Amino acid sequence: MKPIQVGLLGIGTVGRGTFEVLQRNQEEIQRRAGRPIQITMVADLDTARAQSIVGNHVQVVSDARQIIANPEIDIVVELIGGYGVAKQLVLEAIAAGKHVVTANKALLAVHGTEIFAAAHQQGVMVAFEAAVAGGIPIIKALREGLTANRIQWLAGIINGTTNFILSEMRDKGLAFDDVLKQAQALGYAEADPTFDIEGVDAAHKVTLMSSIAFGVPVQFDKAYVEGITKLESQDIRYAEQLGYRIKLLGISKRTASGIELRVHPCLVPAKRLIANVEGAMNAVMVHADAVGTTLYYGKGAGSEPTASAVIADLVDITRLHTVDPLNRVPHLAFQPDAMSDLPMLRMDQVVTSYYLRLRVADQAGVLAKVTGILAGSDISIDAVLQREAGEGESYTDLIILTHDCPEAHMNQALAEMQQLTTVLAPITRIRKEELN
Ligand code: HSE
Repeated sequence: MKPIQVGLLGIGTVGRGTFEVLQRNQEEIQRRAGRPIQITMVADLDTARAQSIVGNHVQVVSDARQIIANPEIDIVVELIGGYGVAKQLVLEAIAAGKHVVTANKALLAVHGTEIFAAAHQQGVMVAFEAAVAGGIPIIKALREGLTANRIQWLAGIINGTTNFILSEMRDKGLAFDDVLKQAQALGYAEADPTFDIEGVDAAHKVTLMSSIAFGVPVQFDKAYVEGITKLESQDIRYAEQLGYRIKLLGISKRTASGIELRVHPCLVPAKRLIANVEGAMNAVMVHADAVGTTLYYGKGAGSEPTASAVIADLVDITRLHTVDPLNRVPHLAFQPDAMSDLPMLRMDQVVTSYYLRLRVADQAGVLAKVTGILAGSDISIDAVLQREAGEGESYTDLIILTHDCPEAHMNQALAEMQQLTTVLAPITRIRKEELN
């Protein structure tokens, strides 16, 4: 049978992996897809390098539009990244009637509504398994595997760079900056590593997962985003003494008043499997009414793990492209006319529990004042740990774990506590999730 013809826009790490895995496993993939899948064109600015990767049987061009204009190409794989030229090319490919596979989480999290609407109108598919958690088939799981369920929440370690940094800081007591350099050298970090360490990359991914879990439009602008740059090693140690690990989580929950969508460092009980996901690995927990809690674990980045997801999408499209568009799996799991308008909650509306660290004067009555303020904001305390003051020190650290409360209450209590003359430094607040 005539091969499905694929054009690659960009042949960097993931493009190379896609080409090599497709070649290596072509027989196995064809047995699954029902026909051969061939990369027949590649566009890259560095044509010499691209040609050296794909050999002489594949046409290499520097202008991506030559691929889009080629009537023989069935699927365009966008691996350029970013929202600029990538967005334009994806929209042009859709307009030309091509199916699109992309690993571009930033593009879909920000412009997904426009892109999916264009694809729906043209009757083409836009597949994005590689955009979230690399090789873990989490999009497939949320969109198809869990389709019987009413999903209640999901929480994931979905940025390998930050998980690597947090793991090394905890394991080896290393400083943040040194570990970041290692992560960059190992190739985990985004071209702009601020996207990793400030939580933006994780927010792109959780925005996409939230959308397909709850059937709401992609709304990256409504996500609360906080990275790990302000995290201190002492908090990692205190958390450990209390039986917790600190992870950068992407969390989305369905509540009675709306959808929570947030990325921030988070204490997680050390006994949870997800707390033990170390290094650059990713994991996503999903809690749903029928199946209960499920956990998906694997490599969230890298050439062949991400290629695995790209090729899974190529096979899906190969199997489904002749199907009536109205009978295909919807892009965002729910039928376009059945999307929900549930509001996305502001962070001060979120209900969660907290870890607080206060540097306080080591004097009588300080703890009573602090607990009095928390009680006044209707915040119940779960545990208190006090560091023994060192020889000659007139201050100490108070570590407090709270039960759940609305973030607005915590903000009010923090403002009041910070005013106490016996509180000697800015208070550290880290959110906590039991994930049970
Ligand atoms: N920079 C990302 C990470 C790569 O560290 O997980 C995959 O999106």
